[in-house]
Amino acid sequence: MQKVIIDCDPGIDDVLALEYALRSEELEVLAVTVVAGNVPVDLGVENVFKVLERCQRLDVPVYTGAAQPLHKTFVSAQDTHGMDGLGESNIPRTSMIKVQPTSASDFLADFFSEKQDVGIIALGPLTNIAMALGKNPCLGKHLTRFVTMGGTYKSHGNCSPVAEFNYWCDPEASAIVYQDLGCLIEMVGLDVTRQIVLTPNLLNYCSRINPHVHQYMERITQFYFDFHWKYEHLLGCVINDPLAVAYYIDQSLCQGFDSYTAIETNGISLGQTLVDRYDFWQKEVNSRILVSVDTRRFFTQFLTVLLDAPEA
Ligand code: BDR
Ligand code: CA
Repeated sequence: MQKVIIDCDPGIDDVLALEYALRSEELEVLAVTVVAGNVPVDLGVENVFKVLERCQRLDVPVYTGAAQPLHKTFVSAQDTHGMDGLGESNIPRTSMIKVQPTSASDFLADFFSEKQDVGIIALGPLTNIAMALGKNPCLGKHLTRFVTMGGTYKSHGNCSPVAEFNYWCDPEASAIVYQDLGCLIEMVGLDVTRQIVLTPNLLNYCSRINPHVHQYMERITQFYFDFHWKYEHLLGCVINDPLAVAYYIDQSLCQGFDSYTAIETNGISLGQTLVDRYDFWQKEVNSRILVSVDTRRFFTQFLTVLLDAPEA
């Protein structure tokens, strides 16, 4: 069992990732921290509790994090994920919401005040992580692994020509984390997540295996499907965040290279991932940039776990 804390901004693909992590036998989710990203942070918290209730895991502590990026004005991705962040699926708000009194960044700073056999999977903007790092500069040295869904190396951006949403949403936080975390940052960016397309055929397969899970997945992904068709003419939707969880569980799923990476904080390239693969800057490696993925194995592992869910 690998112990993890999940930082997220749910978000359609975040809830799929969270459910995957909670149901996976290989992971023990110790806590969930929430950040403003796809939706305002309070809505993100509500969505986390919807997943916890669905998975009957209301025992997992949830911490509310930053409502705003460090400096930039907050821009959500409700155009992509729906006003409710869950594809306007109208899944009822649960009455079971009970957040921890501590803020996400205080919790993280304190939790990693000494070495822990615990890693972080960050599925949203890196604001909470940067704030925690400001409070505890040793944070990176005290965790086992840090996997982030964000950034892009050769693939084009998804919210500007060059930037991926999570890093663009809070570029200063991303820059701080890349500069100061002090442990290897494993970047699950658009180069690999764009190969993770949930297609109508796959959904149809789900309906045959487990109609209840299918119903839920269809309900939350329909909006996402429409968005991808409208803007990218893609017959399917890219489910970024579950890949970060899958890769955390099984590193052999993705391949890449190690490099020094920085994040642009100015101008029209705001949030761009500057990957110095050929070592022009002669800086110490701080990241592993993943560029290929075994898509078939991902879907086998992900859907096996999700489709095994008991009837809610
Ligand atoms: C990332 O941004 C959000 O839209 C998704 O949840 C994912 O974390 C992809 O750019
Ligand atoms: Ca996310």
